[in-house]
Amino acid sequence: MCGIVGYVGPRDAIEVLVGGLKRLEYRGYDSAGVAVIGGDGELATHKRAGKLGVLQRDLVAEPLPRSETGIGHTRWATHGGPTDVNAHPHLGDHGRLALIHNGIIENYAALRDELAAEGYTFASETDTEIAAVLLGREYGRTNDLVGAFRAVVGRLHGAFTLLAVHADEPGLVVGARRNSPLVVGLGDGEQFLGSDVAAFVQYTRRALAIGQDEIVAIRPDGIELMDFEGRPVQGEEYEIAWDASAADKGGWSSFMAKEISEEPDAIEQTLLGRLHDDGVDLDEELAPGIDDDVVRSITRILLLGAGTASYSGLLGKYAIEKWAGVPVEVELAHEFRYRDPVLDAGTLVVSISQSGETMDTLMAVRYAAERGARTLSICNTQGATIARESDAVLYTRAGPEVAVASTKAFSAQVIALYLLGLHLAQKRGTLGAEETRRLVADLRALPAQLQTVLESGGEVRELARSMSDTRSVLFLGRHAGYPIALEGALKLKELAYIHAEGFAAGELKHGPIALIEPGQRVFVVVPSPRDRNSLHPKVISNIQEIRARGAHVLAVAEAGDVAVLPYADDVLRIPLAGPLFEPLLAVAPLQMFAMELAAAKGLDVDQPRNLAKSVTVE
Ligand code: F6R
Repeated sequence: MCGIVGYVGPRDAIEVLVGGLKRLEYRGYDSAGVAVIGGDGELATHKRAGKLGVLQRDLVAEPLPRSETGIGHTRWATHGGPTDVNAHPHLGDHGRLALIHNGIIENYAALRDELAAEGYTFASETDTEIAAVLLGREYGRTNDLVGAFRAVVGRLHGAFTLLAVHADEPGLVVGARRNSPLVVGLGDGEQFLGSDVAAFVQYTRRALAIGQDEIVAIRPDGIELMDFEGRPVQGEEYEIAWDASAADKGGWSSFMAKEISEEPDAIEQTLLGRLHDDGVDLDEELAPGIDDDVVRSITRILLLGAGTASYSGLLGKYAIEKWAGVPVEVELAHEFRYRDPVLDAGTLVVSISQSGETMDTLMAVRYAAERGARTLSICNTQGATIARESDAVLYTRAGPEVAVASTKAFSAQVIALYLLGLHLAQKRGTLGAEETRRLVADLRALPAQLQTVLESGGEVRELARSMSDTRSVLFLGRHAGYPIALEGALKLKELAYIHAEGFAAGELKHGPIALIEPGQRVFVVVPSPRDRNSLHPKVISNIQEIRARGAHVLAVAEAGDVAVLPYADDVLRIPLAGPLFEPLLAVAPLQMFAMELAAAKGLDVDQPRNLAKSVTVE
């Protein structure tokens, strides 16, 4: 879960690398470093603990020589704490070779012992330095960076993206990947490498996906792609749909604020071209991996994801079961493959991932595919590993999500799952025409409705500011409000470092109500009183139970719901929507609340402590 950038070409490499790292900083931000080959043929490196800004200040105070070849890294520590010494790049071949790494080298201890027995010493506590020293040793034998690289990757176990440069081979950056992401940016007289396209999208929109166990060598005039045995491989070129400005803050105080403001657009884009008045059209996107025969033969669906993505799965479950009548289970990807799950050709495994690189989810997809299940991914990042390894992909079109806490990607994931539910219902004939038309209309109404919710940001800010000393907040919801309670609590924990728990409101009396004491703040996602099977009266009872014990209730309730007023201390209003659509409106105030509370506490909203956006280690 580190960010990696490589560059060869006529531009000032440091500028390209630091700019790319800035855009990848969401992947990890406890230290950063660069290595370049100067015009004098010497390798120059600089690395520092702390966020990228620390390195940037150093590079201004003591610039490295101008260079046209370089690599850069922003780290999320796994082996060895976040110190200057453990930061990447790591060096080999007497300081003439530099290497950066994302992932975990599982057999590093055995390799370290082998190298130590030959007299090699190590400065850091990292697994990465072992690879750098090993590469230095191989280079000493071959004087060929690509050949030495091939020898080294063949000896490593685990997950890695590696990039390396050698002072004796300016104009060349070599990279490899196994279980970690790496993408090439194809330029004119220059080439780029990045953990994802955000690293270089300001220079080129042409990208090339690198497959599992492949090596790439970039030179200004072209690239060479091969497998770990050195056999040439044909890469898959694609056009990047985002432009660079989509990944800029554009005047907002944080990426998170910007990304919440983009939620209506994320929904609209995800619906675009996939809805018509009478239903959905996903045929072209899902076939050939998931064609009509497959859809009709599915006996159950397993939705897999982690964190926020898994909560979108809970909403997907409610919709798919209701509309298509297919049994759906939702499971955390990291739990799934360690319990001998029963899978067969009738199981459709749907993975949900913004990044498409989350290791837990990727491994779960591979596990499912190996056991004969069909795999579909719901993914926000074009060309990501999970998308490429699934039988079919339904892209969410939320655009780049840079803030570590997921917001607009969540909304887009729910929409994609709803589209899938409608697609299955249509193919299996489980929804009437009238009902389908009504659901299509509800979906189409969402972006404008959400826009009105976002306009109440000032009210949420006031509320958050008044609660900046709060130490614990509970979140309650029922049915589709339950995943929103979980998501509201997760956002508050990760952004404001406040203890927060989400519960199904009906569960309260089975234990958690013991937590309620006078003044305890409790958000309650209140369902609509209009729904035929409404849980509204039950939730009002739940509110009364906690109020009787002194809770301070903050309700998120439908406009016009006056029944809630006597029981709530504060009410945040959302527009009228169907039961499965309310959650998409109710989540925004909770996201804004967590963001505003974190900001009121002076915390970094975009890069909360200890986290990384794309968790590419297990
Ligand atoms: C929370 C958050 C995480 C991610 C999770 C999965 O705000 O962002 O819980 O949702 O790490 O990430 P993806 O969707 O990239 O697989």
